[in-house]
Amino acid sequence: MAATSALRRDARFDGLPLPDVYARVSRHIPAIEWPALAPDVEAILRLKRERNAVILAHNYQAPEIFHTVSDIVGDSLALAREAVTVDADVIVLAGVHFMAETAKILNPEKTVLIPDMGAGCSLADSITAEDVRALKRKYPGVPVVTYVNTSAAVKAESDVCCTSGNAADVVRALGVPRVLMIPDEFLARNVQQQVPEVEMLTWAGHCEVHERFTPDDIAAVRDSYPGITVIAHPECPPEVVEASDFSGSTAMMMNYVTSKRPSQVVLVTECSMADNIAVANPDIEFIKPCNMCPHMKRMSLANIRRALETMTHEVTVEPALADRARMAVERMLAVKPTPVVSPVPKS
Ligand code: 13P
Ligand code: SF4
Repeated sequence: MAATSALRRDARFDGLPLPDVYARVSRHIPAIEWPALAPDVEAILRLKRERNAVILAHNYQAPEIFHTVSDIVGDSLALAREAVTVDADVIVLAGVHFMAETAKILNPEKTVLIPDMGAGCSLADSITAEDVRALKRKYPGVPVVTYVNTSAAVKAESDVCCTSGNAADVVRALGVPRVLMIPDEFLARNVQQQVPEVEMLTWAGHCEVHERFTPDDIAAVRDSYPGITVIAHPECPPEVVEASDFSGSTAMMMNYVTSKRPSQVVLVTECSMADNIAVANPDIEFIKPCNMCPHMKRMSLANIRRALETMTHEVTVEPALADRARMAVERMLAVKPTPVVSPVPKS
């Protein structure tokens, strides 16, 4: 498996009676919660068959979504890669709007649904297509490398997209001395450390979840838990990444934990990450100072069920815009990842 993906194709529940479904997820969902969740799980499993639908879920989804109804789980890069090959008429994106838009850009002929249209992202909201056009006028000829956490209109103005799982590879592949890496200032500054030979110009966008972590938080955790392994998402401020032991996309974090098996770890990222891997790794103690993404948490079993029942909310992208945005996404997907089989600790 590539270091940036954590996928599961989930035919596990097909045709199973509900008690058997619970038996398979009981490690992830307390028995006391199951009666309230079971009707939605049962309905979603049935509706997926009836609609020929798959559910793509981001790693930040709550355990009851991540472990029961999702067909494919992963980081943004894995979800984009899988969206290209998925064999279904309908894709339900349990994540945020830019992820659903990316799936639609890559699958113009498929129906892409998001259970709540309000699931945005502070990074996507930080920049407009007009902002990118102004940057290109200011820095003519400098390639625009755009984080996938952006609208289709912003992608359409870009040369190539990137995710937190491949940003350094994408920049290196361009082979130029200077890039505009937008809109996440912290991701750009963190990638700058990995690719010092390329000058990164950036934008003042931030993730509202990761910008709240501070080096003092890391120092406090290390004081309380001597020897703990600290893993930070690259959307965190560079001083936080610098104070950590490893930094990578959500899938890279998972791979690091499951391959290195630290006895105590803190994942400096969204709360559900630790929940989603803790149960399968009972020998690892997860310390949980975390911040919640209010956008990711707009997803629920109830609104996923409603999405499949009513075929809403359909995500559309104007075809000409989608064609331009697709070029930037496909250029990203064509970049060969660094060939690592296990995570590389940050230098
Ligand atoms: P990943 O691509 O690392 O999963 O990150 C997506 C995201 O939105 C993190 O905040
Ligand atoms: Fe956007 Fe941050 Fe939420 Fe990720 S965690 S979706 S970057 S607001």
